[in-house]
Amino acid sequence: MMMPILLVAGVAAVVLSLPWWLPARVVALRIRVFERINGPDGIPVPGDLVGVERFREVYSHPAAGGRSKGAALSDLFWYWLSPGPEMHQEHLEAGDRYDAVARVTRGLLAVRRAEAAELAARCAARALDGRRGLVRLRDLMMPLWAEFSYELVFAEPCPREARDLIARNAGDVVTSLKCTGLRHMGRRRRLTRYLLGRLSRVRLPLPGGLTPRQQAYYLQGAFFNTAVVQMSEAMAHLLLVLARHPEVQERARTGDDRYLDQVIAETMRLYPLFGIAHRITTGDIPLDERTTIPAGSVLCFNYPQFHRTGFTDPDRFDPDRFDRPGAKDLNHIPFGVAANRPCPAWRIAPIAMRAVAREVLDRYRLDSSVSHTRSLPNRGPCLLTPLGAAHRPRPALAYLRVRDRWEDVWRSLVQLVLGTYMVWDARRQRLCERHFTAEAHGEKT
Ligand code: HEM
Repeated sequence: MMMPILLVAGVAAVVLSLPWWLPARVVALRIRVFERINGPDGIPVPGDLVGVERFREVYSHPAAGGRSKGAALSDLFWYWLSPGPEMHQEHLEAGDRYDAVARVTRGLLAVRRAEAAELAARCAARALDGRRGLVRLRDLMMPLWAEFSYELVFAEPCPREARDLIARNAGDVVTSLKCTGLRHMGRRRRLTRYLLGRLSRVRLPLPGGLTPRQQAYYLQGAFFNTAVVQMSEAMAHLLLVLARHPEVQERARTGDDRYLDQVIAETMRLYPLFGIAHRITTGDIPLDERTTIPAGSVLCFNYPQFHRTGFTDPDRFDPDRFDRPGAKDLNHIPFGVAANRPCPAWRIAPIAMRAVAREVLDRYRLDSSVSHTRSLPNRGPCLLTPLGAAHRPRPALAYLRVRDRWEDVWRSLVQLVLGTYMVWDARRQRLCERHFTAEAHGEKT
């Protein structure tokens, strides 16, 4: 009699303790599986070869310029960003085509600050209308940034049909990137077809020398994948930080824009959207008389690690770090480095984020008790209580804490299985490698 009771108690103890140990182990296993399939590719920076003190110098080196060709890692990114990854600005190699595409992106993003803030606030007001209670912040933000991007590109209000197509496309990309779901190419191709029908309505001339399909892929990649995904993720981080730090939230609500900008800067320091940005060296990079990074190396610039060095107590959330003399010289590059293909939205993204944060803070008190990690696979569960309504968040916070812990167990297993499959499938399809082989033979892909 004693034995079965002990056995049941033991099994129950193991099951109940799952949330405390299983997710971390599954994540470690996933990383090992990815390395196994992908190969030991890349020089980590900062790392043994390049210390943190030379991080910017090496990132800014003219030979640190290759984007796709020659890295096994690229097959994986191309897979996640399909269709049309060969036209995605981030993945184009330097040259005339890249210059033409980058010029149009700069043009479409060249709106006055006040206009960008007004547009973002208007889109936020629509997205927040009637919302309250428990939400997932990333899902709340997606339609908003879909409308924002649409107006930037077409200079007219975004129809509901387009908003839904864009949000579904961006949602699919980010879900597969985080390995919480597989790709649904049908959703993505529906958006490509829609854009093909609207090319003549774009408010600036599109890059010349491209077929209509390539132009549609370019727009889809920069404005309806990257812009929507990045802004939604950045805002989900910002609002979750506010939800988890009530004192910061109260101070931010007072209307002090300078303080809110510091909160945004500190959020992007602790939760940079890029984990790693990689470059393939197009020439040798000499480090000293005896050491050179040879051409063809894959450099993996690690943002979270760079953002932790040189800060006291780097894991603490402290917006006041950015209110000190010398803040400009901190190890903080949320939009990349100026000398090597930085984010073209570096100027308007923080302004638009601030405008949306104001719209949210003017309407709601935010509360959350969930885990906050850089990859944010839980999409930022949060409780929105309208200002002026009774504020009794305790039961919801207790529920969120337990639900998040248990979701983490299931999610980590899903990520392991789907991630392994996608890495294998991407290696099998070799989209990037095949594209450059075909190009070398003068074929079209
Ligand atoms: C808060 C929001 C955003 C953050 C934190 C962010 C961050 C970054 C970073 C760090 C890079 C450079 C990575 C590297 O060195 O490889 C980058 C590149 C890029 N970003 Fe953003 N981004 C944001 C929003 C946007 C938006 C709204 C757009 C709209 C079009 C955009 C379009 C791009 C493009 C096209 C590139 C590639 C640039 C090139 O290679 O020429 N990003 N972003």
